[in-house]
Amino acid sequence: MNEAPRDTTLAATTPMEALEREHQEVDAGLEYFVAHGIAGAPQLRTALAALRRHIFVEEECLFPMLQDPALRMPLFVMLTEHRDLWRTMEEIDAALDGEGSSDRLQALGRTLLAQLDRHNSKEEPIIYAHAATSLPPEAAASLTETIATIEVPAGWSPATDD
Ligand SMILES: [Fe+2]
Ligand SMILES: [Fe+2]
Repeated sequence: MNEAPRDTTLAATTPMEALEREHQEVDAGLEYFVAHGIAGAPQLRTALAALRRHIFVEEECLFPMLQDPALRMPLFVMLTEHRDLWRTMEEIDAALDGEGSSDRLQALGRTLLAQLDRHNSKEEPIIYAHAATSLPPEAAASLTETIATIEVPAGWSPATDD
């Protein structure tokens, strides 16, 4: 699997479709790694970079657009889970850099997939579904453009409440 495509078809896609596609692309990269072990390390690194960028877009662009008080608790849960996902990614980075065993890396890959399954299975029907019906068209269009182009600033990490 190569870099996530940044093609022009994204322009005709809603932001929620683009974000759901990123969920699927990250899952596919992690599943490839879990199935192939260290030979799938490039796919693993690509998936981690895509997931970090995805979390950045959600926290810095999408979530601030969602002001409905009914979403306050679901968004809090999403932010908490982002920190858990980030920690697992840091463990994977450390194992990759320290030449951790393939078994250890695959176990961490399975952990990240399970965390993502729990996260995305709430995020898509609650957060994305709400955004799909509540974002004004101009905001949705600008978010689609942002998703297609934005880069994560060096050193960025998920919000913390401490
Ligand atoms: Fe998320
Ligand atoms: Fe997401």
